[in-house]
Amino acid sequence: MQNNPGITEEILGLKEERNAILLVHNYQPPEIQDIADCTGDSLELSRAAVTMKGDVIVFCGVDFMAETAAILSQHKTVLLPAEDACCPMAQMITAAELKLAKERHPDAAVVCYVNTSAEVKAESDICCTSSNAVKVVNSVPQDKILFVPDQNLGRYAQRFTKKVILPWEGFCIVHDRITPAQVEAARKAHPGAVVLVHPECRPAVIDCADHVASTSGIIKEVCTSEKQEFIIGTEVGILHRLRKECPGKRCYPLSEGAVCRNMKKTDLIKVRDSLKTLQPRITVPQDIADRARGAIERMLALP
Ligand code: 13P
Ligand code: SF4
Repeated sequence: MQNNPGITEEILGLKEERNAILLVHNYQPPEIQDIADCTGDSLELSRAAVTMKGDVIVFCGVDFMAETAAILSQHKTVLLPAEDACCPMAQMITAAELKLAKERHPDAAVVCYVNTSAEVKAESDICCTSSNAVKVVNSVPQDKILFVPDQNLGRYAQRFTKKVILPWEGFCIVHDRITPAQVEAARKAHPGAVVLVHPECRPAVIDCADHVASTSGIIKEVCTSEKQEFIIGTEVGILHRLRKECPGKRCYPLSEGAVCRNMKKTDLIKVRDSLKTLQPRITVPQDIADRARGAIERMLALP
């Protein structure tokens, strides 16, 4: 959907009426990014959920992100305008499966990627995001780590630690499809361009990249680099922010097909309706929220 001034104004009015803030992930459609109070990666949006003032958070992203905001900001109403926007990777592990794995590895710390359900976070020692996975892994006292659910991020962190990482076999259905052959073809099409990829990519793709970073880490790298051309190895929604914030730079998608369908479920009508009705609301049962909060807060407390 293209930007529609009528509905955008309606949203801005409702936002004021509700004292609401719009937190928007870097993969969201352009018209949603354009009305954001904060656009960011998972870590930045978790911090914004806590620090930004407001009674209502409209979370434009996928379910685990809104759940994390609800766990951290108990007194705010958290809305997920696209009710069915989920992360297939987060569904690749359940709390029951994690409990069994913990029984098999009682000496291991459990590090869970933020792309997990609240129930899985509640069974974990500490949470991490794509921007701090290495720091988190190195922060725990144990030498053995059960890393769930992203095997690619777990293997990426393994490159920077002497600890033994046991990765779960989950993966992102968008990033895991990116291939080294695509990197080769993109380098041929844009000789001299810098290749930036997300750590959810496969190890063979990471091996071909010049730089590996979270979505906001990629944006920062493009904006601050002296280079002019970049090949962007993550979900294509990030290109809107890159074009807005680094207008002088040329950014090419590594894969045009890297589209997260769940991230595209948000639209302006759903955002407006969520503000009108204060639905769909995301809540987490108190006992699960309390245990999951421990894992998230331990991550947020790291220097
Ligand atoms: P970031 O935290 O890097 O934005 O990643 C979120 C995500 O879902 C990547 O696929
Ligand atoms: Fe989940 Fe991948 Fe979509 Fe990110 S891009 S929300 S990890 S499916």
